[in-house]
Amino acid sequence: MRSILIIEDDPLVRKTLASQLAKKGFEITVAETGESGVRAFGEAPPDLVLLDVRLPDIDGLEVLRRIKERNRRAVILIMTAFDDMKTTVEAIKLGAYEYLVKPLNMTELDLAIDKAFQMRALEEKVSYLVEEKKKEYTIDNIIGHSAGIRSVFKLIGSVANTRANILIQGESGTGKELVAKAIHYNSPYRDEPFIVINCSAIQDTLLESELFGHVKGAFTDAVSETKGKFEIAGKGTLFLDEVGDVSPNLQSKLLRVIESRDFMKVGGEKVLKTEARIIAATNQNLKALIDKGRFREDLFYRLKVVEITLPALRERREDIPDMVDYLLEKINRDLRRHVRKVPPEVMKTLIDLPWRGNVRELENALTRAVILAKGDVVLKENLPLEPDERKAFSDELVPLEEVEKKYIQHVLSAVRGSKTRASQILQISRPTLDKKIKEFGLDLGET
Ligand SMILES: Nc1ncnc2c1ncn2[C@@H]1O[C@H](COP(=O)(O)OP(=O)(O)OP(=O)(O)O)[C@@H](O)[C@H]1O
Ligand SMILES: [Mg+2]
Repeated sequence: MRSILIIEDDPLVRKTLASQLAKKGFEITVAETGESGVRAFGEAPPDLVLLDVRLPDIDGLEVLRRIKERNRRAVILIMTAFDDMKTTVEAIKLGAYEYLVKPLNMTELDLAIDKAFQMRALEEKVSYLVEEKKKEYTIDNIIGHSAGIRSVFKLIGSVANTRANILIQGESGTGKELVAKAIHYNSPYRDEPFIVINCSAIQDTLLESELFGHVKGAFTDAVSETKGKFEIAGKGTLFLDEVGDVSPNLQSKLLRVIESRDFMKVGGEKVLKTEARIIAATNQNLKALIDKGRFREDLFYRLKVVEITLPALRERREDIPDMVDYLLEKINRDLRRHVRKVPPEVMKTLIDLPWRGNVRELENALTRAVILAKGDVVLKENLPLEPDERKAFSDELVPLEEVEKKYIQHVLSAVRGSKTRASQILQISRPTLDKKIKEFGLDLGET
């Protein structure tokens, strides 16, 4: 049952409202003063508050403010006198949902209550969706139990509650952004923004204005003043992706914000403060860049107050089976497919591939295999076997005979021992093929 709290000092109005609304099936609580209204709200938050703005003790606006302080989402309808527009405007500014002019018209009241509940349902849905989004970044969604990934979990847990700057290093596709989000959404600032800026995708001068904002007229295209990401991030997280690509000029500006917490917009003169936590990521070796004079050492130390290094997928192959299951679930859900079976030999291939693009590459490969699958099974033929696997030569230099032997064996296996097909492909006669098979002691497998 929906509940309504009526805060009204006039006994006649209070009683009429209470009985009318109770008849409509609402659960009613009443309060005669502002203080007792705020208390009643605190004890059992109702779905809606009907608030008179003229109360004997504290004024209605103050009641409104206190209720909103307790719960930003409280839905409050205020009741005002017809000549009191100033209070009304003030109340709406403070977050009242709607105002009703006294004497109350019951039809109007019904309509307003109806609308308020509809809006509330909508808001609940939105906040549910936001919560769902956050769930995507809980630690549960970082798959793996290898020693490498376990130490990452530990670090996430220990830094989430701090404001320390964090540097996440790891090859492309190892989950740097995923980890950054997990840190943010597990921190006390999870309701503040998580802002991503890719430092390599944006040209230097634009990047500066993206980071710090610009004032009107700062450069030719600056037609109006803008906020930079440092400002937009508020108390949230600013994720500086590919920080290794920041130019020397911007590196010194970044260093300055990190040290002093203040900055200026491009072309601006006012000093602004930032409270954002900075998480930087890179797939480059920053130490090597420092040695080449391309990255400032002082900035490096400022960024890596805490350092998290993500292992490459091939360094934690034991995680691949779980990862495959997890990714297949996700892909099937997204594509509305049901390709979930992975035969053992396909899993073995998946475990053995080099995955230079790490989890992202695995995800792409599985997506392709799901799309191409005819039934519910992931087929080996739909996996992108690395050129390495098909490469005719290894890096080691060997006699011609050895290459010949290996290659004939390779073709025989590929055609499952069919000598006719093999001789066609190799463009040698059957007797020559037979001779080579005997000479090299090749295996025909099943025919
Ligand atoms: N441990 C993991 N568990 C589950 N999914 C993962 C894991 N690591 C990465 N992923 C998934 O792999 C994809 C790539 O991850 P992410 O974008 O975080 O990588 P990245 O390191 O930022 O890569 P890049 O350097 O290419 O930007 C994402 O879809 C992410 O959800
Ligand atoms: Mg990334």
